[in-house]
Amino acid sequence: SPPQVIFSGIQPTGIPHLGNYLGALQNWVKLQNSSPPGTKLLYSIVDLHAITVPQNPEQLRRWKRESLATLLAVGLDERKAVLFFQSDVQAHSELMWILSCTASMGYLSRMTQWKSKLALEEGASPLDESSKAKLKLGLFSYPVLQAADILVHRATHVPVGEDQSQHLEFARECVTNFNHTYGGEHLVAPQTLLSPAKRIMSLTDPSSKMSKSATNPSSRILITDSPSTIKRKLASALTDSSNSVSYSPSSRPGVTNLLHLLSAFDSTGKSAEELGMELERSGMGLGAFKSLVAEAVSEGLKGVRERFERVMGDEGYLEGVAERGAVRARESAGETMKIVRKAVGL
Ligand code: ADP
Ligand code: NA
Repeated sequence: SPPQVIFSGIQPTGIPHLGNYLGALQNWVKLQNSSPPGTKLLYSIVDLHAITVPQNPEQLRRWKRESLATLLAVGLDERKAVLFFQSDVQAHSELMWILSCTASMGYLSRMTQWKSKLALEEGASPLDESSKAKLKLGLFSYPVLQAADILVHRATHVPVGEDQSQHLEFARECVTNFNHTYGGEHLVAPQTLLSPAKRIMSLTDPSSKMSKSATNPSSRILITDSPSTIKRKLASALTDSSNSVSYSPSSRPGVTNLLHLLSAFDSTGKSAEELGMELERSGMGLGAFKSLVAEAVSEGLKGVRERFERVMGDEGYLEGVAERGAVRARESAGETMKIVRKAVGL
């Protein structure tokens, strides 16, 4: 079978939290270190996606630099994977336009994220006309850019979280529409590689996922947080009134979420359920349990934090990584654009 091409992207919208790390970045590293020789890996910092909502230019520049440092800090290696900024490779935007001309408006308007912006889901009160008129075109059409990101590199496999599978479906729809319109197997339909990781929940509200958009900064742990910050955030994590440890996703979501974190960083490879039983038997209270989780997380992130500080302090190195990545990503995208332009008659 032909070699795999793996593509994934992350938005430069702040330092990743534990959900991003355990749900996405760790899997990227695993794929990098376990893929058979010949596999092409591309990991992009998708800055063009970040501007679908207003950004402060200074802050965006800083976030871009931090994001690249983050990719290196978690263990991605430019010798094994192409690490690049999306906006350095103009073919992403060019293919987006070309795909827009065969993509279906109906399909896009049925997508969950758009419907949630319009508050069209069941139970929500719909937006009024003036709020609707202010919605931006980019927010509607960004799935086409996402499709272009993937298709321009002829990706065969795309690692994503559950929340993104609908977008992969749309990318395949773009392939079908394009190939049908221009009669040929010009673009390659990608497969979804669902992340094996558990969803990490908010520390302050275990019924919602850990997210960078939650207003309370104590609800998430960033992968560069210091041990004392990690300790403080875990100490204030919402659990329940029973002063003991046990695993129960339905009746003890807070404690169970912390057990998932402990298991993710526990070097013995024990599951959250096993750890829960062990700690229940030992009679550990919640205070000691939170300290234990804090130590495991701090220890597990130590290398990440140190590498992050080191590369952030070396501006020239970061620029070099970005430049080398851009050259290789342009080359990869250029091959597809030749095929696409020829098929379309451009
Ligand atoms: P956020 O919700 O913080 O805005 P994104 O939507 O940008 O995060 O997600 C980036 C990646 O991280 C996606 O692959 C997503 O599936 C994963 N991810 C985000 N939050 C979590 C979480 N709480 N648990 C597991 N994975 C997550
Ligand atoms: Na999100």
